[in-house]
Amino acid sequence: MKNKLLKIKETAFQEINKAKDLRVIENIRVKYFGRKDGLLTKVLRGVSDLPKDSRKEIGSVANSIKKELEGELEQAIRVIKGGKVSEAAFFDETLPGKKPPEGHIHPLTRIKLEVEDIFKSMGFEVHEGNELTNLYYNFLSLNFPENHPAMDSYDTFFIKEDPKKKIGLKDRRVMRAHTSNMQVKIMENKKPPLRVIVPGRCFRHEATDASHEHTFHQIEGFVVDEEISIANLVNTQKELLSRIFNKDVKVRLRPGYFPFVEPGFELDASCVICEGKGCSVCKKTGWIELIPCGMIHPKVFESAGYPKGKYTGFAFGMGWSRLAMMKYGIDDIRLFMSGDLRFLEQF
Ligand code: FA5
Repeated sequence: MKNKLLKIKETAFQEINKAKDLRVIENIRVKYFGRKDGLLTKVLRGVSDLPKDSRKEIGSVANSIKKELEGELEQAIRVIKGGKVSEAAFFDETLPGKKPPEGHIHPLTRIKLEVEDIFKSMGFEVHEGNELTNLYYNFLSLNFPENHPAMDSYDTFFIKEDPKKKIGLKDRRVMRAHTSNMQVKIMENKKPPLRVIVPGRCFRHEATDASHEHTFHQIEGFVVDEEISIANLVNTQKELLSRIFNKDVKVRLRPGYFPFVEPGFELDASCVICEGKGCSVCKKTGWIELIPCGMIHPKVFESAGYPKGKYTGFAFGMGWSRLAMMKYGIDDIRLFMSGDLRFLEQF
């Protein structure tokens, strides 16, 4: 009897697997489960007439075959109706998992990591700086005379202080307007030789446009030792730019004014888009104004408490967002902080 049941099961499975439409499935169902003459129905009905010792075993085999066939019929109906196989029935644990969407490194972070690597390979340390600072570190320690109009050009955000607290000018808290706020702070705690970069966010109360943001990014850098010259400044910038843009970038210096450097310069780079031939990005000049810089003013060393006349150094403060714009051909600075995934997913 048991063999007979297994034979029924085998034939039924073969028939179900071959079935292509619901009519055939229905015929199979009637053939095996029909109330009167169904092959399995008959076996189940006859179980009670079997000898006592085999009744239990045959009954249980017949029932489990019944369940299996019912499941198989249901599955076949689902496949024919939906054209799909249920995941639960056909779960293959050896298939590779579904890959969750990958995150992207923000273009500003990418350029920062690249710049950091280049400077580290030249022996520079990377410092994080305070975004919340005071007028002393932001301006006064950098040779801005008190109440001098030069400070106005930095459109600084002041923190609202409690008027009952008598806070002196030096201690007035501000959001840093440039990463130069870290120059004296770091020099106070470290003796030359110094090679430092400070990448960070800066804040200015400015109207925004395609090249200006109220929150933007700069990378400050300075080198202090006993015999640092303008040649060191030029070579460092040339090395940085050539490595960032993977080509030989020419640089030139023009005079520029910043109270904390003397002499001060605007460093221009040969246009990396047209290679100096003249295009719309460089306004047909072949040059792009890129890095304000200069030789550190003796007054800054005085603020840091360094002995008079002992050290020389250079400093620069490049627009890190602008570097990223040039590297990746981005024409609007506001895209960086927009959180627009259509933009970010390109990196
Ligand atoms: C300064 O901030 C000086 N601290 C730079 C410096 C450092 C000079 C050390 C000498 C020695 P400036 O205001 O020009 O300089 O800003 C430097 C760069 O920051 C600019 O060239 C520009 O690329 C970027 N920048 C300035 N303001 C904005 C802004 N609102 N949005 C985006 N980028 C800006």
